[in-house]
Amino acid sequence: MKAVVRTNFDDSVSAYDAYEQRTGRFTALAKLLAAELSARADGPFDTVLDAGAGTGVSTRVFAQRAQRTVALDISREMLRELEAAPRVEADFDHLPFVDGAFDGVAFTASLFLVPDPAVATREAARVLRPGGVVGAVAPLGWVDADGTDVFADLERDSRSPTGADAIEAALADEFTVTTGTWRFATTAEDVRRFHAIPAMAARLYPRLAADERVAKARELLADLEGTVEQRWRWIVGVAE
Ligand SMILES: C[S@@+](CC[C@H](N)C(=O)[O-])C[C@H]1O[C@@H](n2cnc3c(N)ncnc32)[C@H](O)[C@@H]1O
Repeated sequence: MKAVVRTNFDDSVSAYDAYEQRTGRFTALAKLLAAELSARADGPFDTVLDAGAGTGVSTRVFAQRAQRTVALDISREMLRELEAAPRVEADFDHLPFVDGAFDGVAFTASLFLVPDPAVATREAARVLRPGGVVGAVAPLGWVDADGTDVFADLERDSRSPTGADAIEAALADEFTVTTGTWRFATTAEDVRRFHAIPAMAARLYPRLAADERVAKARELLADLEGTVEQRWRWIVGVAE
């Protein structure tokens, strides 16, 4: 599964950049998460691990707040886009850092992509100093004006790999956690743009090739109109 995730993101660089340039959504999520983390950090918030840095959208946000931000990702092609920060190609489940190396670990829209968040969460706890903070942002999907899941009646092959509840539970096993929900008004066209990213279309059609799954997602969402609400759960934990 990790190899599949890596390939899906290796294939997603240009569509990811196009989506972010159009919406600024991942920048917004990283800024909100950075604010929650800094507010709870017990002491300095100088060294941050941006876990699942992708093309560096979240890295740039954390680099404005911390003295040293390390960008880590499993996808070499995503990471290649980032030039300014130290980059590490690695898996959340095996972080190549000594114990207590960081004041903060941030998973901006990334921890939900692992099959078992407990392993990555234990690794995050290990590389954090006592009193350090961890944060994760996980998708809750899109709902219409009546609060109905936009995808509830649409025919697709699968859902997100790991739900927000599982991520919250894994973090709560290791840390004292606080959580909340962020909501963004989102146009139907931006929901389609999100699923034009091959790695995101894989949420719906994991078995199809990149081009086919993007085309099928576009077809699936063709009739969606107006504005819907995209929701994300945030979870912040403090290390003992
Ligand atoms: C949706 S992108 C978010 C990127 C970035 N944080 C941002 O805000 O734009 C998720 C990233 O997590 C990475 N990722 C997924 N599973 C991973 C794993 N097990 N180890 C390291 N990175 C992983 C993906 O390669 C992808 O670049």
